[in-house]
Amino acid sequence: MRIYKVGGAVRDRLLGKPVTDIDWVVVGATTEEMLAKGFRPVGADFPVFLHPKSGEEYALARTERKSGRGYGGFTFHASPEVTLEEDLIRRDLTINAMAEDDQQNLTDPYHGQRDLEARLLRHVSPAFAEDPLRVLRVARFAARYAALGFTVAPETLELMRQLSESGELEALTPERSWKEISRALMEDQPQVFIEVLRACGALKVLMPEVDALFGVPQPPAHHPEIDTGAHTLSVLQQAALHKQPLTVRWACLLHDLGKGLTPEEEWPRHIAHEFKGLKLIKAVNERFKAPRDCQELAMLVGEYHTHGHRALELKPSTLLELLQSFDVYRRPQRFEEFIAACEMDARGREGLEQRSYPQADYLRGAATAARTVAVQPLLEKGFKGPELGEAIKRERLKALKAYKENT
Ligand code: CTP
Repeated sequence: MRIYKVGGAVRDRLLGKPVTDIDWVVVGATTEEMLAKGFRPVGADFPVFLHPKSGEEYALARTERKSGRGYGGFTFHASPEVTLEEDLIRRDLTINAMAEDDQQNLTDPYHGQRDLEARLLRHVSPAFAEDPLRVLRVARFAARYAALGFTVAPETLELMRQLSESGELEALTPERSWKEISRALMEDQPQVFIEVLRACGALKVLMPEVDALFGVPQPPAHHPEIDTGAHTLSVLQQAALHKQPLTVRWACLLHDLGKGLTPEEEWPRHIAHEFKGLKLIKAVNERFKAPRDCQELAMLVGEYHTHGHRALELKPSTLLELLQSFDVYRRPQRFEEFIAACEMDARGREGLEQRSYPQADYLRGAATAARTVAVQPLLEKGFKGPELGEAIKRERLKALKAYKENT
């Protein structure tokens, strides 16, 4: 049997990037031989094994055929006769279809190295279409390597367009899609992910609510970039520049969905877009089964981001409602993430990226003021149940009034 390093490990070594996990391909072996060497099978009918010591993945060289729609519709053919070249040709991109032996001798039948140098994300063969998730993968790689100058090859973008139009993307499971989306959002240039999906028509299928933002104008006085889609991409870019966590990036992507619903005759104003957008945010959240913290923050940021921007003008009672909505007393971190998303929203405007955002500290101060209200003295005064709740609220309101007067 011959063993090769494949995929991302080879690509990233050639790019001079750190290699985190290594995938191996095994040519000329049978399942029985792998088991005899102590490898542990990953699944019953999947020719992938874990190394007994390192835990790394070793896959038998295989060919794949798509036998039906969706991810279930695969048949694998793994046998000792399958060659390295046959295994590599079924892979997604040429830069991912290189193999290396233990002497670092490169096997590169589909010119991955040439495409690395040309900074091109190019599919290996028509077998690309066998897994529609690859549309999202390519967009994710485009986001990851954008800073290095990588772009999607025109013929690959065309294939991605055909796949997007074929309805195949709809067969992807939420879990597989979310894994790609969440990884892409955590890249340094997540906005490129959205741009590539849009360029091949996949955004319209996956997140029509986001796609609808392009071409929708906003008032130039507040938004010099005017276009809501362009704004959303800038907000996402700011979130990455400021190293925000996934929750904040997800909320940034979805915060203005309501603007896509504004009737044209009301443009460029978007009255009550915060509230109108909530059902769209909910739909996108559920479509991808986003984790609960992402879902929650996206909904809260959608509803309250304008409150964040207007923080300094808010009445103490409105400030209190805001803090209560976030349950800031028990969930201080979530409120911090809300503040971060608001700040990214404000910075994601053309020419205003560097402008300071005093609302952030003001909101933090308000949360601290409300939080300093002690419950014990109220308990000692005999307040109980709902009355206690009301008394705490009154005290917090007092604290916020004082805070507003003194700030
Ligand atoms: N692969 C593929 N099609 C997919 C998933 C994976 O062709 N839908 C192939 C590619 O050759 C890829 C390899 O399997 O390089 C390993 O996949 P994975 O570990 O998901 O990705 P990496 O390329 O290692 O990239 P990353 O750095 O994002 O993990």
